[in-house]
Amino acid sequence: MKEYQKTYKLSNGVHIPKIGFGTWQIPNGPVAYKSVSMALKNGYKHIDTALAYGNEESVGKALKDSEFSREEIFVTTKLPAEVKDYLAAEEAFLESLNNLDLDYIDLYLIHAPWPWSDMGKDCKAGNIEVYKVLEKYYKLGKIKAIGVSNFSPNDLDNIIDNCEIVPQVNQIGYFIGMDQSETIEYCKNHNIFIEAYSPLGIGYLLSNKEIEKVAKKYDVSTAQICIRYLLQKGVVALPKSNHEERIIQNAQLDFEIKHEDMNFLDTIKGDPRRWD
Ligand code: A2P
Repeated sequence: MKEYQKTYKLSNGVHIPKIGFGTWQIPNGPVAYKSVSMALKNGYKHIDTALAYGNEESVGKALKDSEFSREEIFVTTKLPAEVKDYLAAEEAFLESLNNLDLDYIDLYLIHAPWPWSDMGKDCKAGNIEVYKVLEKYYKLGKIKAIGVSNFSPNDLDNIIDNCEIVPQVNQIGYFIGMDQSETIEYCKNHNIFIEAYSPLGIGYLLSNKEIEKVAKKYDVSTAQICIRYLLQKGVVALPKSNHEERIIQNAQLDFEIKHEDMNFLDTIKGDPRRWD
């Protein structure tokens, strides 16, 4: 088994493959169908989507048409960030199941603690309400693991203090240069597993000369260094691409970044979107 097909174990015993194929910004229809089919064909065992991405239907179709049984593939989807009441959350969850044409979801996350149009808004009461929907369907066996995304330690405190089940996952934007130490430390202390989206810094890391230098040393691409770095940090990484050669390359991770190079990569700081 390749490194990226191996799994981590969540706090409830569920196994999650180390690399998930991200589908953000991959449009529904032939493009998403083709990308997900290519990912599955090339050995990815974990697909990450969201109701808000609008491509669940194509993801579901690619899964159905693949050679794999349901149990072989780990599927994540998310409750839209703006949904903060119980009934609407139930509706959204059932809509995702229907779009994906699945009987259960492996991992279901609250997409964000606040609507994207009002980042930082206090939605504490709403988050508790919708998390109870996640708990309900988790207990019914319709979701195998539950969690959140983009949650800060404060947002997580609210869930832990007011709900029954500690989230099993927090999916955050995490890549070389992005300091997430506070959230990661909090999650470690509460046994909440970290998933890293935008492992290539939305592509901005690819032109970083320092990362390129490390990549040359290992005779791999900059993208591979970025993704392997996250695996060595012990988190799930969610690379995405529409190109088959990149989909294949992003999963070729059977090499080890030496300790001293990991330390060097740790010294790269700041939001890469501001490096231009
Ligand atoms: P494309 O889909 O055209 O291949 P992130 O996952 O951090 O959000 O970055 C995604 C971006 O990086 C996409 O624009 C994707 O473009 C690009 N990308 C993904 N994998 C690679 C790769 N191996 N080499 C170069 N660019 C890549």
